[in-house]
Parts: sequence; C-alpha cells; structure tokens
Amino acid sequence: MNLVVVSNRVSRASANEPMTGGLAAALLPVVEKSGAIWVGSSGRVRDGAQKEPFAEIEALGAGALAMLDLPAAHYAGYYEGFANSALWPALHSRTDLIRSSHDDYQSYREVNSFMARALLRFRKLETVFWIQDYHFLALGAELRDLGVTHPIGFFLHTPWPTRAIFSGVPHHRELVEAMLAYDLIGFQTDDDRDNFLSYVESELGLEITGGIVASRFGHSRCAVFPIGIDPAKFAAHAAKAASHPDVSRLRRSLNGEKLAIGVDRVDYSKGLVNRIEAFDRMLTLQPQLKRAVSLLQIATLSRGTIEAYGDLQDQLAKLVSDVNGRHGEVDWTPIRYLNKGFSQTVLAGLYRTAQVGLVTPLHDGMNLVAKEYVAAQNPVDPGVLVLSKFAGAAQELDTALLVNPHDIDGMARTIAMAFSMPLLERRMRWEAMMAKLRAGTIQDWFADFVDALQDAHAANDKAAALTLAGDPAVVWPLRSYSAPGGSRYH
Ligand code: G6P
Repeated sequence: MNLVVVSNRVSRASANEPMTGGLAAALLPVVEKSGAIWVGSSGRVRDGAQKEPFAEIEALGAGALAMLDLPAAHYAGYYEGFANSALWPALHSRTDLIRSSHDDYQSYREVNSFMARALLRFRKLETVFWIQDYHFLALGAELRDLGVTHPIGFFLHTPWPTRAIFSGVPHHRELVEAMLAYDLIGFQTDDDRDNFLSYVESELGLEITGGIVASRFGHSRCAVFPIGIDPAKFAAHAAKAASHPDVSRLRRSLNGEKLAIGVDRVDYSKGLVNRIEAFDRMLTLQPQLKRAVSLLQIATLSRGTIEAYGDLQDQLAKLVSDVNGRHGEVDWTPIRYLNKGFSQTVLAGLYRTAQVGLVTPLHDGMNLVAKEYVAAQNPVDPGVLVLSKFAGAAQELDTALLVNPHDIDGMARTIAMAFSMPLLERRMRWEAMMAKLRAGTIQDWFADFVDALQDAHAANDKAAALTLAGDPAVVWPLRSYSAPGGSRYH
C-alpha cells in the first residue's frame, strides 16, 4: 500500500523543535514510521496558473514530506476566510463569529481543487488517500471528479456541531454532499458522528443504514476513531527533560509553590478567558493560596490576522496583567503568561513539574494536551488533570476532575481541590487514565483508520459491481466491520 496523507499544516520538526497544533504534532511520528507521503501547505504562496503545482519534497523518516505552494490569489480566502472564519467557528459552535464572503468560499473550493490536481502525481495503483481536517472537506469529491477511484478517507480533528449550527455555514449543503465522496469519514467522538449523521438525514434527506450513508458517490461509512498519543514516548521525554535548562530553571523559580500549567493556542475555543477568571476567583475566594500556588500559561499565537484572534490576544494580555496587578506581591507573580512555543520534550518536562494540568476548552475535538499532561506525570507522585467536559478527551479521561468551563466559581473550587488532592486519590485517578491512554495509542488510531478505510472501499467496490450486474439482492453493508484485535472503532 502507498499511503498519501494530506493536511493543511505539516511538520518537519523533531521532538526538539516547537510545533503548532495537535494535528501536525500527532501525525509526525506515525507518518515518519509508516513510510507515507505527507502532503500539505508550505506556508508560502505562488502566483500564476500553475499547471504543474510546485512541491518541495524531502525525506521524512521512512516516507516523504511534500510541501506545496498554494495559489496566491486564493490563499487568504481559503485559510483565513472560509476555513478559519466560517468552518472553524461553526465547528466549535460559534456561529456568531462567522465572517465569510462568497469569494472566500470560491477560494476554498479552488484550493481544494488545486490540491486534488497536485495529488495526482502521487497516485499509484495501490495508493490510499487519507485527508485530514476541515480545510479539505471537498477534496475527496474533487479527486473523484478527476477520475480517482482509489480509497479516499477523511478524518475530522475538530468537533462536528448540531444540525442547526452547521447549517449556519454558507454553502453547508454543497459541502456535506461533497464529503460523501469519501469512503470513510472519521470523527473523534460518538456525538460528532451522530450530529453529522443527523444533519445528513434531516438536511439532505439521505438514507443511513448502520452509520453508512448512500449518496450519488456510492456509500460513505461514518465511524469514530478517538485520536491518541504515544504515552511511553511522552513519559520518556518527561523523564529526560528534567535536566533541560528551561525545566530546571522553572523548578528553581518556584520557591516551594505548587504550579498549574495550561498549554494552548490562543483560540476562542480553548476557554482561556474563563480559565484565567477562574484562577483569579480562586485567589479571591481562598487568599491563603497566594504565594502557595501559581499558573504557567503557555499561549502560542495563532491566526493573528483574523480579527477574532487579534481581539482575543489583546483581551488575554489585559486580563493577565490585571490579575497579576491585583494579586501579585514583590516576590510572587500569580500568572506567568508566555506567548511562545516549546518543543515536545521541554513541554513534557514542564507538564511533569506542574501539580495541576488545566485543559478547559469550551469545545475541542480531542485535545491532546490533556493526554500528554497525564502521560508526562511521575508515576509515584502524579499531578491532577482538570479537564473540560466539552473536550473530546473527557470521554476517555473520565477520572480527571471534569469541569464545566462556563461555571467560573465551580472551576475555581475544582482547581483549589486539585492542588490539595491526597496522593492516594491522585494515583488512582492517574492509573485509570494511563490505562485508557495505553489502550488507544496514536499508532492504534492510525492503523485502525487505514484498515477500516480499505475495508470500506472494498465493500463499496463490491456493491458497485453487484449493482452493475443488476443483482437485486445487494444490501449494504456486505460485511460487518471489526478492527483487528477487537473493535476500537464503531
Ligand atoms: C487545530 C486544527 C489543525 C490546525 C491546528 C493549528 O488543531 O485542527 O488542523 O493545523 O489547529 O492551526 P493552524 O491554523 O495554525 O494550522
């Protein structure tokens, strides 16, 4: 099999360089090992019609990385416009933030079509295409229009919202119809898949049997594949990073204080304002915690040219300085707020230094920081994860302290409770979470999806052949699905 993985953002970084976003960080090690070709944006643009798309290709582990210059005329409309100012807000249930023109949609479709043409050069007889995330909802349909009959799968890293919310996206019907060109559509949680299927049924009026949608393209199977991490690798990074200068400087600077850590892109979906407000409230309600605890919030800047992101950056900077001004002392700063990224190794060391991990998004597909924080803990003295019930990770990590990020008082109390949790309870909760992480690693996720995609495509081919032969008894599915070694996906 020749696997071609496609995502907007790719990563050539090693564990020692900073990375942006869960998707690229998660894919890097599995792509490297599998020998796949990973195709994505170079981050640069290029003018002109580009009959032959320009790609910079370099080795990546056993495989290769192909970075394309996207069309200059359409990049902003595609990335800042439709992908991140229409789809991203809607997928995170923030239709109030949708700002997108008809031209943005045209640019989005142009870039999807450009990417489809670019992918043809990687197509071989045995090629399997696996498209990632909301930047490329229509890429499968574009490939089919170019005559590609290979297996094409899609995985959504974000949530899928309710029908009413998704129908706030301009051109929503066209987009979802185009998605049905994929043989397999993967989601992070049952809720995401169910929301998608209920949209398809009620908005498009299509028939669904056992999670399989029949459309003009054939059949599309919709299933759940919760993304994981490599917990053993993270634990090894965490142990190794203890002596890293950033980590040892942090430890020395704490003067016996307990530390909470948050690591996020500055994005309205991450619930950063509510988190800082909860920390503020905790210090007001429990002044004895002053000097005894502090928060390290790493907040990497992202999509800053989009107004909603620029506004949030300003709001957070002001809020943090206000909290520090009100509660700070000459020798104690409640919140250390850093707008820079760290490598995975250093992050693992920082996670292990912190007694509390704060992962409190308003909506999140999975949130791998939650999983990484757990994996990085010292088994004999683990920290406590405070986790939003609206992160996909909460489905698995249900022994974290689950919070409602809209309830500031509740979060303030829970964070205080996390700081004082006894060792025995910390260990029990942590061991239960580690068992979940080990049972669903990133390697499992990758292998399960690719197996299911090949099955779905084979079943689709067979159904098409039988229909052509006029067999009236064709019923879908032709076989039942089960992942090797027991079904992790459903
Ligand atoms: C989320 C998305 C990814 C994206 C990442 C970083 O994790 O699901 O597709 O790559 O954010 O965002 P950016 O716009 O900087 O690539």
